[in-house]
Amino acid sequence: MLRVTTSKMGNGMKQIRNIGVLTSGGDSPGMNAAIRAVVRTGIYLGYHVFGIHRGYQGMIEGEITELKTTDVSNIISRGGTILKTARSKDFMTSEGMATAYAQLLKHNIDALVIVGGDGSFRGAVDFFEKYSIPAVGIPGTIDKDLVGTDFTIGFDTAVNTAMEAIDKIKDTAEAHDRLFLVEVMGRDAGYIALNSGISCGAEDILIPEEETRLDDVLERIASDERRKKAMHIIVVAEGDDSGGIEFVAKAVAERFPGKDIRSCVLGHIQRGGSPSAADRVLASRLGYAAVCGLAEGKNQVMAGIVNGEIVYTPFKNVIKSRLPIQKDMLNMIKVLSI
Ligand code: F6P
Repeated sequence: MLRVTTSKMGNGMKQIRNIGVLTSGGDSPGMNAAIRAVVRTGIYLGYHVFGIHRGYQGMIEGEITELKTTDVSNIISRGGTILKTARSKDFMTSEGMATAYAQLLKHNIDALVIVGGDGSFRGAVDFFEKYSIPAVGIPGTIDKDLVGTDFTIGFDTAVNTAMEAIDKIKDTAEAHDRLFLVEVMGRDAGYIALNSGISCGAEDILIPEEETRLDDVLERIASDERRKKAMHIIVVAEGDDSGGIEFVAKAVAERFPGKDIRSCVLGHIQRGGSPSAADRVLASRLGYAAVCGLAEGKNQVMAGIVNGEIVYTPFKNVIKSRLPIQKDMLNMIKVLSI
């Protein structure tokens, strides 16, 4: 990829001179490492790189500044995003998009790198259809719920954050012989729940991708009770269909009135913090690949890593497909928690 020294658009589009980079949707640890890689690769290849602040909303409002190599010094280890992020309703309207386009013209930005999830890529598709601004995406979400990449930026850090928190909960749960329900993030996706739960030896994991049968959950607790297994940890994804952590806690309390039960919502601590080494490397590789991709004429694709190799998947495929959950992992938990 490094052999690319000038931008060439093989698909009839004009040459790229200035690249805009933005972060969009929920932030994720490693977004800064991706911004750093985009800025430095862009400058290395002879482009000007502009930071668009607060995602598509900032694009509309003209919050755009040129970034030099020193502007991204020492951000590789920082959580959050120096560009800030937002979910923009205005960008979904024709007027919003027209204003955003006018702002890009003002700064002579002719290509975009978008770090975010499927909603962010949907915005890029609509924008390209109207204004032909080429864009390459980078998967940045703690949820890991995208096809076209084995990991998304921030997932590894978020799982480790959740794992460390659940480990601590287990210490106190064991000391008191308590049953704990722990809610982790994932409005539509159970990957954080599944991976943090397995890594902590949870007794049960409830995720949106799999119908939760409350009777089965209660029966597993009853089975532990019969075997005098005092501590029982249930990891619940935020978007699980059971009705939520408090609903499950109430049902457990009704069925086992003598049981000492507590619940804990981990919340946004999972979104922050210094990115893990894996997330920093992933973000660096994807930032580099996104700019090299644009330089090679790629457009409307997301850069991802599959089996260790960089792959570019069309936005349309990323948007329309839902990443299936690995059912064998769910079955495994039942075996490993006996
Ligand atoms: O998409 C990432 C995520 O953290 C989800 O896991 C969560 O459901 C959602 O964002 C919460 O978003 P916010 O609090 O920013 O509205």
